[in-house]
Amino acid sequence: MDKHESGDRAIQNTLEPYWMPFTGNRHFKQHPRLLAAAEGMYYTSDDGRKILDGTAGLWCVNAGHGRREITEAIQRQAAKLDYAPSFQLSHPIAFELAARLTATLPGDFDYVFYANSGSEAVDTALKIALAYHQAKGEFRRTRLIGRERGYHGVGFGGISVGGIVGNRKAFASALLPQIDHLPHTHDPAKNAFSRGQPEHGAHFADALESLCALHDPATIAAVIVEPVAGSTGVLVPPKGYLERLRAICDKHGILLIFDEVITGFGRLGAPYAAEFFGVMPDLMTVAKGLTNAAVPMGAVYARKGIYQAFMQGPENAIELFHGYTYSGHPLACAAALATIEIHRRDGLAERAKGIAPYWENAIHSLEDAKHVIDLRNIGLIGAIEMAPRPGAAGGRAFEVFLECFKRGLLVRTTGDTIALSPPLIVEKPEIDRMAETIRAVLATIS
Ligand SMILES: Cc1ncc(COP(=O)(O)O)c(C=O)c1O
Repeated sequence: MDKHESGDRAIQNTLEPYWMPFTGNRHFKQHPRLLAAAEGMYYTSDDGRKILDGTAGLWCVNAGHGRREITEAIQRQAAKLDYAPSFQLSHPIAFELAARLTATLPGDFDYVFYANSGSEAVDTALKIALAYHQAKGEFRRTRLIGRERGYHGVGFGGISVGGIVGNRKAFASALLPQIDHLPHTHDPAKNAFSRGQPEHGAHFADALESLCALHDPATIAAVIVEPVAGSTGVLVPPKGYLERLRAICDKHGILLIFDEVITGFGRLGAPYAAEFFGVMPDLMTVAKGLTNAAVPMGAVYARKGIYQAFMQGPENAIELFHGYTYSGHPLACAAALATIEIHRRDGLAERAKGIAPYWENAIHSLEDAKHVIDLRNIGLIGAIEMAPRPGAAGGRAFEVFLECFKRGLLVRTTGDTIALSPPLIVEKPEIDRMAETIRAVLATIS
Protein backbone atom coordinates (compact mmCIF):
# COMPACT_ATOMS: atom_id res chain seq x y z
CA MET A 1 0.00 0.00 0.00
CA ASP A 2 1.26 3.48 -0.89
CA LYS A 3 2.04 5.50 2.26
CA HIS A 4 -0.46 8.15 1.20
CA GLU A 5 -3.24 5.57 1.30
CA SER A 6 -2.40 4.32 4.75
CA GLY A 7 -4.98 6.40 6.59
CA ASP A 8 -4.73 8.87 9.41
CA ARG A 9 -1.10 9.47 10.36
CA ALA A 10 -2.01 10.96 13.72
CA ILE A 11 -3.70 7.72 14.71
CA GLN A 12 -0.73 5.60 13.62
CA ASN A 13 1.71 7.85 15.52
CA THR A 14 4.71 5.85 14.42
CA LEU A 15 8.13 6.99 15.63
CA GLU A 16 9.78 6.51 12.28
CA PRO A 17 9.15 9.73 10.28
CA TYR A 18 10.60 12.14 12.85
CA TRP A 19 14.31 12.60 12.04
CA MET A 20 15.53 13.55 15.49
CA PRO A 21 18.32 16.08 16.09
CA PHE A 22 21.61 15.10 17.80
CA THR A 23 20.15 11.64 18.51
CA GLY A 24 20.98 8.09 17.56
CA ASN A 25 17.69 7.69 15.70
CA ARG A 26 17.81 3.91 15.31
CA HIS A 27 18.60 3.29 18.97
CA PHE A 28 16.03 5.80 20.17
CA LYS A 29 13.23 4.38 18.07
CA GLN A 30 13.85 0.97 19.57
CA HIS A 31 14.13 2.38 23.11
CA PRO A 32 12.06 5.58 23.08
CA ARG A 33 12.17 8.03 25.97
CA LEU A 34 9.15 10.30 25.78
CA LEU A 35 8.32 13.13 28.16
CA ALA A 36 4.63 13.86 28.37
CA ALA A 37 4.32 16.57 31.03
CA ALA A 38 6.39 18.74 33.33
CA GLU A 39 5.99 20.78 36.48
CA GLY A 40 8.49 22.43 38.78
CA MET A 41 11.60 20.23 39.04
CA TYR A 42 10.01 17.18 37.42
CA TYR A 43 9.14 15.72 34.07
CA THR A 44 6.53 12.98 33.76
CA SER A 45 7.34 10.33 31.19
CA ASP A 46 4.66 8.93 28.90
CA ASP A 47 4.55 5.81 31.11
CA GLY A 48 3.76 7.98 34.12
CA ARG A 49 7.15 8.06 35.88
CA LYS A 50 8.41 11.20 37.64
CA ILE A 51 11.84 12.24 36.40
CA LEU A 52 13.90 14.77 38.31
CA ASP A 53 15.23 17.36 35.87
CA GLY A 54 18.97 17.68 36.45
CA THR A 55 19.50 19.68 33.27
CA ALA A 56 16.70 22.29 33.12
CA GLY A 57 15.63 20.63 29.88
CA LEU A 58 18.61 21.59 27.73
CA TRP A 59 20.06 24.25 30.05
CA CYS A 60 17.01 26.39 29.42
CA VAL A 61 14.11 25.97 31.86
CA ASN A 62 15.85 28.06 34.50
CA ALA A 63 12.68 29.08 36.35
CA GLY A 64 11.39 25.50 36.55
CA HIS A 65 8.69 23.86 34.48
CA GLY A 66 5.10 24.84 33.89
CA ARG A 67 5.24 28.39 35.22
CA ARG A 68 1.63 29.50 35.17
CA GLU A 69 2.46 33.18 34.60
CA ILE A 70 4.37 32.33 31.42
CA THR A 71 1.67 30.01 30.10
CA GLU A 72 -1.02 32.62 30.70
CA ALA A 73 1.02 35.40 29.11
CA ILE A 74 1.45 33.28 25.98
CA GLN A 75 -2.26 32.44 25.92
CA ARG A 76 -3.30 36.09 26.28
CA GLN A 77 -0.88 37.20 23.58
CA ALA A 78 -1.96 34.48 21.15
CA ALA A 79 -5.56 35.56 21.57
CA LYS A 80 -4.71 39.24 21.05
CA LEU A 81 -2.04 39.34 18.33
CA ASP A 82 -0.79 36.09 16.85
CA TYR A 83 1.84 37.62 14.60
CA ALA A 84 3.05 40.91 13.23
CA PRO A 85 5.66 41.37 10.49
CA SER A 86 9.09 42.19 11.83
CA PHE A 87 10.44 44.14 8.84
CA GLN A 88 9.35 47.82 8.61
CA LEU A 89 6.61 47.04 11.15
CA SER A 90 6.49 45.72 14.68
CA HIS A 91 4.23 45.47 17.72
CA PRO A 92 4.31 47.09 21.16
CA ILE A 93 5.68 44.33 23.36
CA ALA A 94 8.74 43.79 21.17
CA PHE A 95 9.78 47.29 22.27
CA GLU A 96 8.62 46.74 25.83
CA LEU A 97 10.78 43.63 26.09
CA ALA A 98 13.86 45.34 24.64
CA ALA A 99 13.40 48.18 27.16
CA ARG A 100 12.98 45.71 30.03
CA LEU A 101 16.04 43.71 29.01
CA THR A 102 18.33 46.68 28.50
CA ALA A 103 17.21 48.24 31.80
CA THR A 104 18.76 45.30 33.62
CA LEU A 105 21.84 44.90 31.45
CA PRO A 106 25.22 46.11 32.64
CA GLY A 107 27.04 49.16 31.25
CA ASP A 108 25.97 50.56 27.90
CA PHE A 109 24.34 47.41 26.56
CA ASP A 110 21.44 49.48 25.26
CA TYR A 111 20.23 47.54 22.21
CA VAL A 112 18.61 44.17 21.51
CA PHE A 113 18.38 42.36 18.15
CA TYR A 114 15.93 39.43 18.19
CA ALA A 115 16.49 35.94 16.80
CA ASN A 116 14.76 32.62 17.45
CA SER A 117 17.47 30.38 18.84
CA GLY A 118 20.99 30.40 20.15
CA SER A 119 22.34 29.42 16.74
CA GLU A 120 20.61 32.35 15.09
CA ALA A 121 21.77 34.69 17.84
CA VAL A 122 25.36 33.59 17.25
CA ASP A 123 25.21 34.01 13.50
CA THR A 124 23.58 37.40 14.03
CA ALA A 125 26.33 38.52 16.42
CA LEU A 126 29.06 37.41 13.99
CA LYS A 127 27.36 39.32 11.18
CA ILE A 128 26.95 42.42 13.34
CA ALA A 129 30.65 42.27 14.22
CA LEU A 130 31.70 41.99 10.58
CA ALA A 131 29.30 44.72 9.43
CA TYR A 132 30.31 47.01 12.30
CA HIS A 133 33.89 47.21 11.09
CA GLN A 134 32.70 47.81 7.54
CA ALA A 135 30.45 50.62 8.78
CA LYS A 136 33.46 52.14 10.55
CA GLY A 137 35.58 51.92 7.40
CA GLU A 138 37.88 49.23 8.77
CA PHE A 139 37.48 47.10 5.70
CA ARG A 140 40.30 44.67 6.45
CA ARG A 141 38.73 43.40 9.68
CA THR A 142 37.15 40.26 8.28
CA ARG A 143 38.58 37.48 10.43
CA LEU A 144 36.68 35.73 13.24
CA ILE A 145 38.32 33.87 16.11
CA GLY A 146 36.59 31.09 18.04
CA ARG A 147 37.98 28.48 20.40
CA GLU A 148 38.67 24.77 20.38
CA ARG A 149 35.85 22.83 22.04
CA GLY A 150 33.56 25.87 21.74
CA TYR A 151 29.88 25.33 20.96
CA HIS A 152 28.01 28.13 19.24
CA GLY A 153 25.06 26.30 17.76
CA VAL A 154 24.75 24.70 14.37
CA GLY A 155 24.53 27.49 11.79
CA PHE A 156 27.44 27.73 9.38
CA GLY A 157 28.80 30.70 11.33
CA GLY A 158 28.44 28.90 14.64
CA ILE A 159 30.12 25.67 13.53
CA SER A 160 32.91 27.63 11.85
CA VAL A 161 33.92 29.49 15.02
CA GLY A 162 32.91 26.47 17.11
CA GLY A 163 35.48 23.87 17.96
CA ILE A 164 33.66 20.58 18.40
CA VAL A 165 35.04 18.27 15.76
CA GLY A 166 31.96 16.10 15.35
CA ASN A 167 29.86 19.15 14.55
CA ARG A 168 32.26 20.31 11.82
CA LYS A 169 33.73 17.38 10.00
CA ALA A 170 30.88 16.52 7.62
CA PHE A 171 30.61 20.17 6.66
CA ALA A 172 34.29 21.04 6.36
CA SER A 173 33.94 22.14 2.75
CA ALA A 174 31.41 24.81 3.69
CA LEU A 175 32.93 26.32 6.82
CA LEU A 176 33.47 30.07 6.71
CA PRO A 177 36.85 31.27 5.44
CA GLN A 178 39.15 33.43 7.58
CA ILE A 179 38.49 31.71 10.87
CA ASP A 180 41.01 30.75 13.50
CA HIS A 181 40.74 29.24 16.95
CA LEU A 182 42.18 29.84 20.39
CA PRO A 183 43.20 26.75 22.35
CA HIS A 184 40.68 25.43 24.86
CA THR A 185 41.40 25.99 28.53
CA HIS A 186 41.11 22.44 29.86
CA ASP A 187 44.25 21.49 31.80
CA PRO A 188 43.44 18.50 34.00
CA ALA A 189 47.10 17.90 34.88
CA LYS A 190 47.06 21.18 36.81
CA ASN A 191 43.39 21.83 37.50
CA ALA A 192 41.58 18.53 38.10
CA PHE A 193 38.96 18.69 40.87
CA SER A 194 39.04 22.50 41.01
CA ARG A 195 36.17 24.12 42.84
CA GLY A 196 34.88 27.05 40.78
CA GLN A 197 37.46 28.82 38.61
CA PRO A 198 40.73 26.89 38.23
CA GLU A 199 43.91 28.61 39.42
CA HIS A 200 46.01 27.86 36.36
CA GLY A 201 45.48 28.84 32.77
CA ALA A 202 45.11 32.62 32.34
CA HIS A 203 48.00 32.27 29.90
CA PHE A 204 45.75 30.39 27.45
CA ALA A 205 44.43 33.84 26.51
CA ASP A 206 47.87 34.84 25.29
CA ALA A 207 47.29 32.66 22.25
CA LEU A 208 45.22 35.59 21.00
CA GLU A 209 48.42 37.67 20.84
CA SER A 210 50.00 34.91 18.78
CA LEU A 211 47.03 34.87 16.39
CA CYS A 212 47.32 38.67 16.13
CA ALA A 213 51.00 38.31 15.28
CA LEU A 214 50.21 35.61 12.73
CA HIS A 215 47.33 37.30 10.94
CA ASP A 216 47.89 41.03 11.66
CA PRO A 217 45.51 42.25 14.37
CA ALA A 218 44.01 44.79 11.96
CA THR A 219 42.42 41.86 10.08
CA ILE A 220 40.57 40.46 13.11
CA ALA A 221 36.94 41.50 13.55
CA ALA A 222 35.91 39.61 16.65
CA VAL A 223 36.64 36.89 19.16
CA ILE A 224 33.74 34.74 20.35
CA VAL A 225 33.83 32.52 23.44
CA GLU A 226 31.40 30.95 25.86
CA PRO A 227 32.35 32.48 29.23
CA VAL A 228 31.85 28.96 30.63
CA ALA A 229 32.03 26.36 27.87
CA GLY A 230 28.94 24.19 28.38
CA SER A 231 28.19 21.71 25.64
CA THR A 232 31.75 20.42 25.39
CA GLY A 233 31.49 19.16 28.96
CA VAL A 234 31.72 22.26 31.18
CA LEU A 235 35.05 24.07 31.08
CA VAL A 236 35.22 26.83 33.66
CA PRO A 237 37.47 29.76 32.70
CA PRO A 238 40.73 29.88 34.66
CA LYS A 239 41.17 32.86 36.96
CA GLY A 240 42.27 35.92 34.98
CA TYR A 241 41.62 34.32 31.58
CA LEU A 242 38.58 36.34 30.49
CA GLU A 243 40.15 39.55 31.79
CA ARG A 244 43.22 38.90 29.68
CA LEU A 245 41.15 38.17 26.57
CA ARG A 246 39.34 41.48 27.11
CA ALA A 247 42.62 43.38 27.48
CA ILE A 248 44.10 41.91 24.29
CA CYS A 249 40.91 42.67 22.34
CA ASP A 250 41.00 46.26 23.62
CA LYS A 251 44.63 46.67 22.69
CA HIS A 252 43.95 45.67 19.08
CA GLY A 253 40.45 47.07 18.47
CA ILE A 254 38.90 43.58 18.29
CA LEU A 255 35.30 43.03 19.38
CA LEU A 256 34.73 40.49 22.15
CA ILE A 257 31.54 38.43 21.95
CA PHE A 258 30.32 36.41 24.92
CA ASP A 259 28.00 33.59 23.94
CA GLU A 260 25.76 33.59 27.01
CA VAL A 261 23.15 31.20 25.63
CA ILE A 262 23.77 28.92 28.62
CA THR A 263 25.22 31.33 31.18
CA GLY A 264 22.54 34.02 30.80
CA PHE A 265 19.51 34.28 33.07
CA GLY A 266 20.97 33.41 36.41
CA ARG A 267 22.81 30.17 35.73
CA LEU A 268 25.99 31.30 37.51
CA GLY A 269 24.24 33.12 40.35
CA ALA A 270 24.30 36.49 38.58
CA PRO A 271 22.04 37.63 35.74
CA TYR A 272 24.84 37.17 33.19
CA ALA A 273 28.35 35.72 33.19
CA ALA A 274 29.63 39.16 32.17
CA GLU A 275 28.56 40.42 35.59
CA PHE A 276 29.61 37.29 37.42
CA PHE A 277 33.16 37.54 36.08
CA GLY A 278 33.21 41.35 35.92
CA VAL A 279 34.28 41.35 32.27
CA MET A 280 32.24 43.32 29.75
CA PRO A 281 32.13 42.02 26.18
CA ASP A 282 30.96 44.15 23.22
CA LEU A 283 28.19 41.81 22.11
CA MET A 284 26.33 39.10 24.00
CA THR A 285 24.19 36.30 22.65
CA VAL A 286 21.32 34.83 24.68
CA ALA A 287 18.48 32.35 24.10
CA LYS A 288 17.23 29.41 26.20
CA GLY A 289 16.44 30.94 29.63
CA LEU A 290 15.21 34.15 27.99
CA THR A 291 11.72 32.66 27.61
CA ASN A 292 12.25 29.81 30.07
CA ALA A 293 12.19 27.77 26.82
CA ALA A 294 8.41 28.06 26.59
CA VAL A 295 8.64 29.68 23.14
CA PRO A 296 11.84 29.69 21.05
CA MET A 297 13.69 33.00 21.17
CA GLY A 298 17.25 34.24 20.95
CA ALA A 299 18.76 37.71 21.03
CA VAL A 300 21.94 39.70 20.63
CA TYR A 301 22.70 42.48 23.08
CA ALA A 302 24.80 45.27 21.61
CA ARG A 303 26.64 48.10 23.26
CA LYS A 304 25.63 51.61 22.30
CA GLY A 305 28.72 52.36 20.19
CA ILE A 306 28.05 49.35 18.01
CA TYR A 307 24.46 50.31 17.26
CA GLN A 308 25.46 53.94 16.68
CA ALA A 309 28.10 52.96 14.12
CA PHE A 310 25.28 51.63 11.92
CA MET A 311 23.10 54.74 12.21
CA GLN A 312 24.40 56.65 9.22
CA GLY A 313 23.23 57.45 5.69
CA PRO A 314 19.63 58.35 4.73
CA GLU A 315 17.21 57.81 7.61
CA ASN A 316 14.93 55.52 5.63
CA ALA A 317 17.77 53.29 4.49
CA ILE A 318 18.05 49.82 6.02
CA GLU A 319 21.15 49.83 8.21
CA LEU A 320 21.62 46.08 8.69
CA PHE A 321 20.57 43.65 5.99
CA HIS A 322 19.67 40.90 8.39
CA GLY A 323 16.63 39.65 10.32
CA TYR A 324 14.12 36.85 10.66
CA THR A 325 10.42 36.54 9.89
CA TYR A 326 9.98 35.68 13.55
CA SER A 327 12.36 38.25 15.07
CA GLY A 328 10.54 39.51 18.16
CA HIS A 329 7.61 37.13 17.70
CA PRO A 330 4.70 38.28 19.90
CA LEU A 331 4.37 34.95 21.72
CA ALA A 332 8.09 34.81 22.43
CA CYS A 333 8.06 38.42 23.68
CA ALA A 334 5.12 37.65 25.96
CA ALA A 335 6.91 34.57 27.33
CA ALA A 336 10.14 36.54 27.85
CA LEU A 337 8.39 39.39 29.66
CA ALA A 338 6.70 36.94 32.01
CA THR A 339 9.98 35.07 32.52
CA ILE A 340 11.89 38.24 33.40
CA GLU A 341 9.20 39.16 35.89
CA ILE A 342 9.52 35.75 37.60
CA HIS A 343 13.30 36.17 37.76
CA ARG A 344 12.90 39.63 39.27
CA ARG A 345 10.16 38.72 41.73
CA ASP A 346 11.68 35.44 42.88
CA GLY A 347 15.30 36.64 42.76
CA LEU A 348 16.33 33.50 40.89
CA ALA A 349 19.93 34.55 40.27
CA GLU A 350 20.33 35.34 43.97
CA ARG A 351 18.74 32.02 44.81
CA ALA A 352 21.22 30.22 42.58
CA LYS A 353 24.05 32.11 44.25
CA GLY A 354 22.77 31.11 47.68
CA ILE A 355 22.54 27.40 46.93
CA ALA A 356 25.71 27.20 44.79
CA PRO A 357 28.04 26.29 47.72
CA TYR A 358 25.76 23.35 48.61
CA TRP A 359 25.75 22.35 44.96
CA GLU A 360 29.55 22.54 44.82
CA ASN A 361 29.87 20.25 47.83
CA ALA A 362 27.41 17.76 46.35
CA ILE A 363 29.33 17.61 43.07
CA HIS A 364 32.67 17.22 44.85
CA SER A 365 31.26 14.53 47.14
CA LEU A 366 31.61 12.28 44.08
CA GLU A 367 35.40 12.47 44.12
CA ASP A 368 35.71 8.84 45.22
CA ALA A 369 32.90 7.52 43.00
CA LYS A 370 33.81 4.84 40.47
CA HIS A 371 35.33 5.99 37.13
CA VAL A 372 35.53 9.68 38.15
CA ILE A 373 38.66 11.48 36.92
CA ASP A 374 37.58 15.11 37.33
CA LEU A 375 34.82 17.24 38.83
CA ARG A 376 34.06 20.81 37.80
CA ASN A 377 31.48 23.32 38.98
CA ILE A 378 30.45 26.94 38.88
CA GLY A 379 27.15 28.54 39.82
CA LEU A 380 24.49 25.89 39.26
CA ILE A 381 26.56 23.96 36.72
CA GLY A 382 28.34 20.74 37.55
CA ALA A 383 30.41 18.27 35.56
CA ILE A 384 31.46 14.74 36.42
CA GLU A 385 34.10 13.44 34.05
CA MET A 386 34.65 9.71 33.77
CA ALA A 387 37.57 7.80 32.39
CA PRO A 388 36.62 6.72 28.87
CA ARG A 389 36.39 3.05 27.98
CA PRO A 390 39.38 2.05 25.89
CA GLY A 391 38.44 2.48 22.24
CA ALA A 392 34.86 3.51 23.05
CA ALA A 393 34.83 7.16 24.06
CA GLY A 394 31.41 8.29 25.25
CA GLY A 395 30.06 4.75 25.70
CA ARG A 396 30.26 4.75 29.48
CA ALA A 397 28.55 8.13 29.74
CA PHE A 398 25.72 7.09 27.47
CA GLU A 399 25.02 4.10 29.70
CA VAL A 400 25.01 6.38 32.73
CA PHE A 401 22.49 8.61 31.00
CA LEU A 402 20.20 5.65 30.21
CA GLU A 403 20.47 4.17 33.70
CA CYS A 404 19.85 7.53 35.41
CA PHE A 405 16.78 8.01 33.25
CA LYS A 406 15.51 4.57 34.28
CA ARG A 407 15.99 5.57 37.91
CA GLY A 408 14.12 8.85 37.45
CA LEU A 409 16.92 11.37 36.95
CA LEU A 410 17.59 13.35 33.79
CA VAL A 411 21.29 14.09 33.22
CA ARG A 412 23.08 15.23 30.10
CA THR A 413 26.22 13.60 28.82
CA THR A 414 28.77 14.80 26.34
CA GLY A 415 31.86 12.76 25.61
CA ASP A 416 32.50 11.02 28.92
CA THR A 417 31.30 13.92 31.02
CA ILE A 418 27.97 14.09 32.85
CA ALA A 419 26.83 17.72 32.81
CA LEU A 420 24.28 18.98 35.31
CA SER A 421 22.43 22.30 35.24
CA PRO A 422 19.17 22.05 37.22
CA PRO A 423 16.43 24.66 37.23
CA LEU A 424 17.41 27.49 39.59
CA ILE A 425 14.50 26.53 41.89
CA VAL A 426 16.27 23.30 42.90
CA GLU A 427 16.12 22.38 46.61
CA LYS A 428 18.80 20.71 48.71
CA PRO A 429 17.07 17.27 48.91
CA GLU A 430 16.87 17.24 45.11
CA ILE A 431 20.58 18.04 44.87
CA ASP A 432 21.28 15.18 47.29
CA ARG A 433 19.19 12.84 45.19
CA MET A 434 21.08 13.76 42.04
CA ALA A 435 24.45 13.03 43.68
CA GLU A 436 23.22 9.78 45.26
CA THR A 437 21.67 8.50 42.03
CA ILE A 438 24.79 9.27 40.02
CA ARG A 439 27.04 7.60 42.61
CA ALA A 440 24.84 4.48 42.60
CA VAL A 441 24.67 4.35 38.81
CA LEU A 442 28.43 4.78 38.43
CA ALA A 443 28.93 1.84 40.77
CA THR A 444 26.89 -0.44 38.50
CA ILE A 445 28.52 0.58 35.21
CA SER A 446 31.55 -1.28 33.91
C1 LIG B 1 26.75 28.49 24.09
C2 LIG B 1 25.70 28.08 23.11
N1 LIG B 1 25.51 28.80 22.01
C3 LIG B 1 24.58 28.49 21.10
C4 LIG B 1 23.76 27.40 21.29
C5 LIG B 1 22.75 27.04 20.25
O1 LIG B 1 21.47 27.27 20.70
P1 LIG B 1 20.21 26.66 19.90
O2 LIG B 1 20.26 25.18 20.10
O3 LIG B 1 19.04 27.34 20.53
O4 LIG B 1 20.38 27.04 18.47
C6 LIG B 1 23.90 26.63 22.44
C7 LIG B 1 23.04 25.46 22.68
O5 LIG B 1 23.27 24.66 23.55
C8 LIG B 1 24.90 26.96 23.37
O6 LIG B 1 25.12 26.23 24.46
